[in-house]
Amino acid sequence: MTKAMPRYSKTRRIDCIVGARPNFMKIAPILRAFGDTKRCTIRLIHTGQHYDESMSAVFFDELGIPAPDINLEVGSGTNTEQTARVMLGLEPLLVADRPDILLVVGDVNSTVAAALVATKLLIPLAHVEAGLRSRDRTMPEEINRLVTDQLSDLLLTTERESLSRLVREGIAAERVHFVGNVMIDTLYHNLSRARPANDTIALLANGTTFASQAMRDGFGLVTLHRPSNVDDSAKLAGIVNALAEISINLPLLFAVHPRTRARLVADGLDGKLAEPRILLTSPLGYLDMIGLMKGARVVITDSGGIQEETTALGVPCLTVRDNTERPITISEGTNTLVGSSPNALLTAVGEINGSGGKRGRVPELWDGKAAGRIVRHVLDFLDQQLAA
Ligand code: UD1
Repeated sequence: MTKAMPRYSKTRRIDCIVGARPNFMKIAPILRAFGDTKRCTIRLIHTGQHYDESMSAVFFDELGIPAPDINLEVGSGTNTEQTARVMLGLEPLLVADRPDILLVVGDVNSTVAAALVATKLLIPLAHVEAGLRSRDRTMPEEINRLVTDQLSDLLLTTERESLSRLVREGIAAERVHFVGNVMIDTLYHNLSRARPANDTIALLANGTTFASQAMRDGFGLVTLHRPSNVDDSAKLAGIVNALAEISINLPLLFAVHPRTRARLVADGLDGKLAEPRILLTSPLGYLDMIGLMKGARVVITDSGGIQEETTALGVPCLTVRDNTERPITISEGTNTLVGSSPNALLTAVGEINGSGGKRGRVPELWDGKAAGRIVRHVLDFLDQQLAA
């Protein structure tokens, strides 16, 4: 009688790529879940697209991500420069030490660069957060999503609707698996460790008008970094004026991304935000950020991940964009698109001040268990390859 083969017989070599801030929350639960299987050797490659302590190291510390095995240190540059530098740095590593599969997350330049290198070397590719589309090709991330999904062997999606979008683009349905949202795995895993909003406000601004009024009246949380908002001086000025006006009724904590900080200073707009009821801070760590999000009356943002986190937390979110690649946060969650018109933003905040805003529900499979499903699909895929 032949002995049944153990289901997963061989140790797998998996390379995981991260580069920019939103990648770190996505990779943390996946690395934990791979570790739990005890049959994967993981190499974590940081491209170095984000390199400041507040944009990178703080997330490794807080989320318990092991130090990267390699850092390509590509740094800042144009979209093309960053993509090219990641490709040039990664290729020799993959040639010298070839993994069984390369796993990428999200839609940043590091994601598409790694996807291109793996594909040219005929290394299988898994994409976590596949199938999101804004239909806006002026966004660098949209190009990154389209290309990465076309190249991927395994497409792991956050929402059920992604399948039909991908099939319309000619991608075989068998490659696509609806697994849920790893960003929400990280949120649920860390929520009990988050610093309560009032504690963070006290730490950052004790004794100020902002702190006393935010603790008494509640506050709004602001993040903005999309080139379409902050690199356009007229648009940025309009948004800044709207924020100053909103702060008259609702104190605002604005965690300022390095790109935005540079644009505010270059355009001479930072002075307009020097209102007593506005607090400008550096980019915040994860535990402070989710605590603030949970405690905010409204979040004003152009981030992708924050649209999802506010939906999971049931906090109203106003997205300062004309479109979103995450439509489920609108149809089911707490998100509303307000475009970049200052008046639309003012009206939307006014409505939330009155009614409390959208409540929504948590989308299907945003249950904190997406990483386990991802790991099972990756290992099944590799087993099938071995058997073929
Ligand atoms: C990138 C991603 C975006 C993601 C965002 C999160 C792409 C195309 N964009 O945009 O999808 O939402 O990360 O932050 O990949 N800088 C620093 N320190 C850093 C990193 C950046 O000072 O650690 C400054 C540099 O001046 C740089 C600018 O911020 O030029 C923009 O950084 P970059 O990585 O090019 O894009 P992001 O706007 O952060």
